[in-house]
Amino acid sequence: MSKSKSSPFHPASRVAIAIMAAGKGTRLKSKHPKVLHEVGGKPLLAHVIAAAAKVVPAQDIYAIIGHEADRVRQAVAQTGINCVLQAEQRGTGHALMVARDALAPYDQVIVLSGDAPLITSQTIKKLADFHSSQRPAMTILTAQLQDPTGYGRVIRKSQKRPDVKAIVEEKSAAPAQRKIREINSGFYAFDAKLLFAHINELSNDNPHGEFYLTDMAAILVKAKKRVLAVAADDPHEILGSNTRAEMVDIDWRMRMAKCRQLMTDGVTIFYPQTCVIDCDVEIGADTVVEPFVQILGKTRIGSDCRIRSYTVISNSVIGDSVLIRPACMLDEAQVMKGAELGPYSRLRPGSEIGEGAHVGNFVETKKTRLGKGSKANHLSYLGDAEIGEDVNIGAGTITCNYDGERKHTTVIEDGAFIGSDSTLVAPVKVGQRAYVGAASCITDDVPPDSLAIGRARQIVKEGWIKAKRAERQKSDKAAGS
Ligand code: UD1
Ligand code: CA
Repeated sequence: MSKSKSSPFHPASRVAIAIMAAGKGTRLKSKHPKVLHEVGGKPLLAHVIAAAAKVVPAQDIYAIIGHEADRVRQAVAQTGINCVLQAEQRGTGHALMVARDALAPYDQVIVLSGDAPLITSQTIKKLADFHSSQRPAMTILTAQLQDPTGYGRVIRKSQKRPDVKAIVEEKSAAPAQRKIREINSGFYAFDAKLLFAHINELSNDNPHGEFYLTDMAAILVKAKKRVLAVAADDPHEILGSNTRAEMVDIDWRMRMAKCRQLMTDGVTIFYPQTCVIDCDVEIGADTVVEPFVQILGKTRIGSDCRIRSYTVISNSVIGDSVLIRPACMLDEAQVMKGAELGPYSRLRPGSEIGEGAHVGNFVETKKTRLGKGSKANHLSYLGDAEIGEDVNIGAGTITCNYDGERKHTTVIEDGAFIGSDSTLVAPVKVGQRAYVGAASCITDDVPPDSLAIGRARQIVKEGWIKAKRAERQKSDKAAGS
């Protein structure tokens, strides 16, 4: 990856990447912008930007946006790329027309499609390198597809040479042309000067009434300029997501590739077809992922962990040798090495589980730190709590953190023991090594090394049941029954 201003593959020329992302996505039947639909756990456009950013610096990347432009602009804001507004979407050719001022100062313009997220930086480089070495007016990235339906077809001058005569869109193609299996990927490299010298020759006289960028091929050939084709190594890289079915197919390919990569790196994933692992997830070697697990967002998992079935982890950080038993939910949580969770634990945002700590079944934590070696094994709610090391939280313990208006903190210091079924009414503090008797309602601080019992004293009425029974028998007899 180069962060320098000049391009890494051709230092003498300046290269821009334009990503067409203005379309409405009519075929998705969605009210949301097409390029913000997600595959592999992030928007279509984010994948294309990530690949592009490995080829040129962010300041040389231009997303052409239009439909719901504000949402798209916001979604890409932190990548540092530029946005060009195509207020009316009048076709892929028109998209480049509106980006003229931004792109004309460059030598080479690479055009990518915001709805084709499987493209890799290697393939973009291959296209750019080929273009730089051959110096035609336009290079088209092509692929041979078993089923080319829906794609533009590449008409070559001859099968043996890379020279192209034209691209014909499916709707305008003659029956013989539809049989051509070499398709236009929608990715191109252009000589910027020649592109903008001829772009106004595009017409919208076609079945869609749009300005097709694909028509630039025939226009440049007519102007006696060279147009070449270069094939993608993997034809699947160019797949576009025009329909929900295509989008789901791309998501599947991306996730299977992710699982294969993780397995290559030393992670065992049983029944990977049942697991949902987002593309930015990191997992260390010797970790085992069982069937039906979801690992999402920017989650990082250490090595030697075991993630058992039906667990869903998002945006969390998990250390080495952590055991997560079945059906846990973790969201923005941190779990230190050697900790054990579940089954059925729920760690909400801001949960920090210390080294070797245990969180058991039906325990919910939120904005809570559980120190090293501490245990909360059964049926608890721990919210807004600072819990020290080697603390035992008995079954059914609840931190009452909310007074109806504000949240308050519960502090439990090192070595404290909280008896089962206790309620700790925050703000409240239990000192070091202090004990709280079972079923206590603790409303006042408990000093270190002391015992607090906050419940009614037990009353025993000896013989009470026996007396009651005798009384009933007597009255039954009197009633003659
Ligand atoms: C396009 C190509 C087709 C190629 C296919 C590959 C044209 C005319 N056809 O068809 O030859 O085989 O890609 O996937 O280019 N967009 C804009 N502004 C617009 C219209 C579209 O930014 O005014 C964007 C879309 O958001 C999309 C991209 O351009 O990201 C491609 O447009 P789309 O309508 O999906 O073209 P295809 O029909 O797939
Ligand atoms: Ca498309």
